Amino acid sequence: MKEEKEIDPDRLPSHVAIIMDGNGRWAQRHAMGRVLGHRKGAESVRAAVTTCRKIGIRYLTLYAFSMENWLRPQTEVRALMKLLEEYLDEEVQEMMDQDIRLTAIGRLDSIGEPVLSKLREGMDRTRNNKTMVLTLALSYGGQDEILDACRRMMGDVAAGRIGADEVDRERFASYLYTAGLPDPDLLIRTGGEYRISNFLLWQMAYTEFYFTDTLWPDFRERHLLKAIADYQQRERRFGMTSEQVRRK
Ligand code: FPP
Repeated sequence: MKEEKEIDPDRLPSHVAIIMDGNGRWAQRHAMGRVLGHRKGAESVRAAVTTCRKIGIRYLTLYAFSMENWLRPQTEVRALMKLLEEYLDEEVQEMMDQDIRLTAIGRLDSIGEPVLSKLREGMDRTRNNKTMVLTLALSYGGQDEILDACRRMMGDVAAGRIGADEVDRERFASYLYTAGLPDPDLLIRTGGEYRISNFLLWQMAYTEFYFTDTLWPDFRERHLLKAIADYQQRERRFGMTSEQVRRK
């Protein structure tokens, strides 16, 4: 297992995104209800935030609740919202102490109260923090994000605020929920599944993917450091040749 000292501080991914999968299976393996798996998963969230802040990751984005997760049994949805509420109650002060800014992406208006107000308060309170940006993807779907961006952009074109010929990749990205965030350098998915499940579809064009069988509730500092060490072994070519990359 990689330790912190084996991570090259000069080649850290600036933005790490995580699909936190495997809470249900963890609970099943421990003969517990799914909700307890999510509760244990919330502990891994705290560990991931602390580790990323400690080693100098600038942006951490966590897929906490997808659009599709609304389809889960109501008891599980309610429990996840409760966990989120508890997390916000307990962690916003810690974010202030650690100079972490909280942001969120997704169709936030569909998140019910009191979570939505607590989320907005947390984002507002931490908005001037600079050391790390923690983004929670909530009620988030990558295809919906692209559609929402198209709708808003087409509205601006129709109103004459921008010309259709001014639409390029940069302009389009400015309509996404993630406007202002750099694209992820590294995506980690726990839980042994090999898919991206409608997460950051536009933004992950050149992201490095790291999949691990470790279930999210078991995923702690050493697993994160191993993922980062793996990332540091890779050559990111962005469509160029190795030689071109080396010359750059
Ligand atoms: C996927 O595991 C996980 C989720 C749908 C929810 C993620 C939520 C947390 C980690 C806890 C709360 C979050 C915060 C930010 C406090 P799964 O249920 O799909 O697992 P399975 O595939 O094993 O069934």
